[in-house]
Amino acid sequence: MSDQNTFKKNAAAAAMRYIEDGMLVGVGTGSTTNYFIDMLAEKRDSIRGAISSSGATEDRLKKNGIPVMTLADGDPDVYVDGADRFNNLKQLIKGGGGALTGEKIVASVSRKFICIADETKREVRLGTSFPLPIAVIPAARSSVARQILAMGGNPVYRNGFMTDNGNVILDIHDLAFDEPIAMEQKLNNIPGIVCNGIFALHAADVVLIGNAAGADVLA
Ligand code: 5RP
Repeated sequence: MSDQNTFKKNAAAAAMRYIEDGMLVGVGTGSTTNYFIDMLAEKRDSIRGAISSSGATEDRLKKNGIPVMTLADGDPDVYVDGADRFNNLKQLIKGGGGALTGEKIVASVSRKFICIADETKREVRLGTSFPLPIAVIPAARSSVARQILAMGGNPVYRNGFMTDNGNVILDIHDLAFDEPIAMEQKLNNIPGIVCNGIFALHAADVVLIGNAAGADVLA
């Protein structure tokens, strides 16, 4: 296993300490979260169930025999998800896997948001080393792209990719920002953008930073 995968696995293992009997567990998407899902299988008979953030995660939960519920069943006690980048304020960039819309919905109503990420994903200024994904209604792709260009960003169409909700993804390069909340709100106000990958209005409560020794806690 590569170092980075070991770090991801260590972060996932640390998240298991937050899972208690009877909990409704929101589950994110991605390779780090996949480690968590496989570990969560050990508690499938003691938790109330899991709420998925994507089709891929739903499939993996079911393969592990974990009962899958929906937000109609209630708000999750805890939400566990990876990230593409995080800063010292526990604000995130997410959406590398394209599941940002479902992830933001489940995260927004969960009582505690636990981000699991390896140490390579820490950065001081979000937007510096990872492009910001936005989910866009297909008909608005060009108009949104022009508005992003006017903001100084460089939108790149994620070719051949469609989200669970039938939207396209633009990955915005060259748009580092100092005020994640303001940027999240600004992008939310552009018609045609369904969701942007900044998780700052509702940041993580805890980031478990996987490394060679285990996981550090940023709380
Ligand atoms: C998916 C995400 C993922 O959490 C993010 O891309 C991190 O993925 P990984 O754990 O595979 O590095 O936001 O939309």
